[in-house]
Amino acid sequence: MLSCSQQRSGEGLILGVESSCDETAAAVVDSGHGIRSNVISSQVEIHHEFGGVVPELASRHHVLNIIPVIEAALAEADVSLGDLRAVAVTAGPGLVGALLVGLQVAKGICFVTGLPLVAVDHLLAHLEAPFLDRRGQPGFPHVFLLASGGHCLVGVRHGPEGMEVLGATRDDAAGEAFDKVAKMLGLGYPGGRVIDELARGGDPAAIRFPRALRGRKGFDFSFSGLKTAVKQHLARRGLPKAGQELADLCASFQQAVVDMLTERVEQAVECTGLSEVVVAGGVAANSHLRASLERAAAAGRWRLHLAAPELCTDNAAMVAVAGQRRLAAGKLADMATNAAPSWARHVG
Ligand code: KG4
Ligand code: ZN
Repeated sequence: MLSCSQQRSGEGLILGVESSCDETAAAVVDSGHGIRSNVISSQVEIHHEFGGVVPELASRHHVLNIIPVIEAALAEADVSLGDLRAVAVTAGPGLVGALLVGLQVAKGICFVTGLPLVAVDHLLAHLEAPFLDRRGQPGFPHVFLLASGGHCLVGVRHGPEGMEVLGATRDDAAGEAFDKVAKMLGLGYPGGRVIDELARGGDPAAIRFPRALRGRKGFDFSFSGLKTAVKQHLARRGLPKAGQELADLCASFQQAVVDMLTERVEQAVECTGLSEVVVAGGVAANSHLRASLERAAAAGRWRLHLAAPELCTDNAAMVAVAGQRRLAAGKLADMATNAAPSWARHVG
């Protein structure tokens, strides 16, 4: 049972709640961005056979898991609701039925306890993940790259609130490209991690896939041509058998994505003259992208901030940090707050 005692307040503890897609997550984070607990219940096994997230199934599993996950996060942090300063919850963007589960539970907790409710933009929350690393917090302003399953954006964060978008994908998101190619290869959902692992034994130069919009002005991305190129390659050559052929295909596809992402970051650094870069979102967990960005940072003499791989994919610790920012700015939500499947970027 959720309990509500009054003890150990004043540490600025925030409960973060995340349910925008296929992870039900809750975390307790303190005002110094220290993670007291970070509990994630993944639905990957449930959606695996469908090759993508089935929204209705996602909502149903969030309903089943949300209370146990929140209870586990409070227990792991050894706190009760009365110890909290506020509850932060992802309000968008995401699947509306999935978002509503976290939002309604967060509202319920705030209604009963009187705690402030903070509604968080999932994309801004991703950009907070590197701030959970105590070894060196990013400074403002900085360039950011957000590459997840649903979004691919590059831009500038001038301060703790909001973001200026310089470019975005014109079609698929980077993570979506990984997921669609994995589906074509019969590797299941989600595709990023499995392609990352298979690519380790492959030759990234084995197949020359296209890099869309390369060398063009502007900061937009496009991944659908790459996806089509992989499809055409498979139509010509057939599905690769497990082994070297599969590893080479994964490595070559991944190299194309990594080149496109790295190039846009370098371009944004050059154009803005900024010296710090935050890279976030599920695709930032990719080992090859991380290595490519490290090399680019060393060559360009800018500072790269990457969250630990497990904090790149959806979690509630990042939601709690985003919540702290909004709380500090006095931007509270209320019981009328609704889920925002497409959150307006300028809201901040
Ligand atoms: O940020 P995230 O957890 O959820 C969204 O907000 O979309 O990102 C999930 C995406 C999926 O498309 C997944 O395939 C991709 O991140 N991903 C990766 C890796 N781990 C997760 N992509 C490439 N390499 C990885 N290691
Ligand atoms: Zn996400």
